Amino acid sequence: MTLAEKAALCTGASAWTTTPIERLGVPEMIVADGPHGLRRVPDVHVWGGDSLPATCFPTASCLASTWDVDLLHKMGETLAEECIALNVDVLLGPGANMKRSPLGGRNFEYFSEDPYLAGELAASLINGIQSKGVGTSLKHYTANNQEYQRFRISAEVDERTLREIYLPAFEKAVKQAQPWTVMCAYNKVNGTFASEHDELLNKILKDEWGFEGLVVSDWGAVRDRVASLKGGLDWQMPGPQDRDVQKVIEAVQSGALDEAVLNESVRRILRIVAKASETPKGGEFDVDAHHELARRIASEGMVLLKNNGILPLKAPQHIAVIGRSAMKAHFQGKGSSYINPTKVEVPFGALQNLADSAELSYAEGYPVDNSFRQDMIDEAAKLAQSADVAILYIALPSFKESEGYDRKDLGLTEQQIALIKAVAQVQSNTVVVLNNGAPVAMSDWIDNVAAVLEGWMMGQAGGAAIADILFGKINPSAKLAETFPRTLADTPAQGNWPGDAGVVRYGEGLLIGYRYYDAKEMPVQFPFGYGLSYTTFEYSNPAVSAEAFKDVDGVTVTVDVTNTGDVAGKEIVQIYVHDHQSILFRPEKELKGFAKVDLQPGETKTISIPLDFRAFALYHLDYKQWITEDGDFDILIAASAADIRHRITVSLESTVSLPCILDKESTVREWMADPRGKVVFQPYYEKLQDQARKRYRRSDGEEGRYASGGESGIDAMEMYNEMPVVSVLLFQRDQWSEHPEDILADLLEQVHRQEVPEI
Ligand code: BGC
Repeated sequence: MTLAEKAALCTGASAWTTTPIERLGVPEMIVADGPHGLRRVPDVHVWGGDSLPATCFPTASCLASTWDVDLLHKMGETLAEECIALNVDVLLGPGANMKRSPLGGRNFEYFSEDPYLAGELAASLINGIQSKGVGTSLKHYTANNQEYQRFRISAEVDERTLREIYLPAFEKAVKQAQPWTVMCAYNKVNGTFASEHDELLNKILKDEWGFEGLVVSDWGAVRDRVASLKGGLDWQMPGPQDRDVQKVIEAVQSGALDEAVLNESVRRILRIVAKASETPKGGEFDVDAHHELARRIASEGMVLLKNNGILPLKAPQHIAVIGRSAMKAHFQGKGSSYINPTKVEVPFGALQNLADSAELSYAEGYPVDNSFRQDMIDEAAKLAQSADVAILYIALPSFKESEGYDRKDLGLTEQQIALIKAVAQVQSNTVVVLNNGAPVAMSDWIDNVAAVLEGWMMGQAGGAAIADILFGKINPSAKLAETFPRTLADTPAQGNWPGDAGVVRYGEGLLIGYRYYDAKEMPVQFPFGYGLSYTTFEYSNPAVSAEAFKDVDGVTVTVDVTNTGDVAGKEIVQIYVHDHQSILFRPEKELKGFAKVDLQPGETKTISIPLDFRAFALYHLDYKQWITEDGDFDILIAASAADIRHRITVSLESTVSLPCILDKESTVREWMADPRGKVVFQPYYEKLQDQARKRYRRSDGEEGRYASGGESGIDAMEMYNEMPVVSVLLFQRDQWSEHPEDILADLLEQVHRQEVPEI
């Protein structure tokens, strides 16, 4: 390839295609948005235009609430079939960013506040799509957690938080599924654009995790093409960008860019283009079958949040159906993921289909805009009063939730809140069905209503899924993949949201989602992992494969789950791990495994969940690696983050061999915690202990201590423990024949000379 051909290949030819090289027979590759459907414009060489009809599946919030990796795999296969039929090589999704705040405008496109869950789901969806020879783009790598200044804000995240919260979902998806492409975020991460981030792209993604595919920019995320190539960004989108291509050519010619860097990106792009060309395209997809799958997924993802027993509906005679979204289904979010559906289930019609002879009457309840219409509320309340049951379809309008801007609050509209209250006041059998992509605050009205079904952005078939659940054709089995807080003020990122002057500080660190509410011991509206069913489940016979085990071997948890109710149902069992003691701060508990089990009434199944090294590990900044520590851990077998059914204590033996990192600034505690440090420092430590205990007679005749305060000497040692060795030795200068600096130099020399012992 000529230099010009290489430079051209590394930028798109259009909004959705790679640059073909006819001379060498390198074909064009076509990408299209998703992620919960296909947004394939008829002419891929031009921007925009209505996309071709494709199945609109539920968005990620709903998908995640299924906790069903097999179902997501199946959805992936189905998406791939549509890509093949509509001639698309790579589907741009899924997104694996964390839900740092419920205000994030694109939260509906992301799975969870928990990295383990998001990683498992992303990996499964990717594996499903790619199993059919269609590529994916895992996005938006990384710390793309808000829309405010999303093209330029710098997410300031400490390294441990990045490693333990914002990176693991990407890491898992890359290691378990090898997406063909990874899309970098628009934003900066700690001051550097994600599109130029050598540490994130080259070192972590490619070198450390072994990512084999290509890195593509988010659309328009490249600011400096040469810097981005050096930083590991292989393919710039959208194209054409002739000026940038020319800059790359000139940079190589002037020596400013090593041609080897360009070659590496070229190789990565060619590998994926070649792979894509191996899958023959064309044909048709089965619109009805895909619609049915979308309906099934929607019904598996809708979360029953409250039920006083009214659901499933018991043959009501007259149902008042209230709310615009009963007639005009709200089933997806606005922005780049907007799908042109093949067909849409109207919730009202779907309800009518299952309602047998019941009479359904309708009131719109709230207008399309943000105006307050008391007349609509009055009309709805009148209707509700005359019925046996009122079903309120409440959709959070897109002016309150969309890609491109963040939410300003957690509330429904003023009109919707007033409507729910007015209807609930005259009708005790009021059921609220919500359509939204992220938690809404409910404390204003939830106590007044009989039931609440979280219907999410439910995809094109969701209207039917709602009816299936309301009438008990489907037993709801979903659980929340994110906490529903009581108020915005309670949420973890408040105080550091949305940032200003181009910077947003992730001040809450590791504590997002349930990790935060655990730490604060704060009540929430609905906890992570929560969801109701029409049946009940009992957990029994909890066990572990070994009470003491080595980190590398891991441990397997088993528990029997019994359906103790009258109808078939599915239960989602969650495994959290709690560390008894650590050298570093750790969240109270973290999700490390889960399983969804399908049970007939009275049936019992034993589920088995393996926990590996990483289930117990933490990322240590000094060692720059994942480490485990010897010690006890609790394994929590739970039905939600707030419903722990069993707790088993196990003992872990670490096999991690750590390099000695003691240096001039290391404290007494650090020396004594390091097995090699302890050996050489022990004599000094004992002398310090003597000193801490020593007493003397003060001039006033009272007994005093050399070390300040305290009776036992323990408190003096506590003080010494936090001091660097050289400082503590200097404080006791007269005790040593050598100068403390020389003693320290000698200690360091000894400790670094030692062979690394087995720990
Ligand atoms: C979005 C991406 C999307 C791309 C192409 C960007 O604005 O952030 O998620 O894939 O546009 O439409």
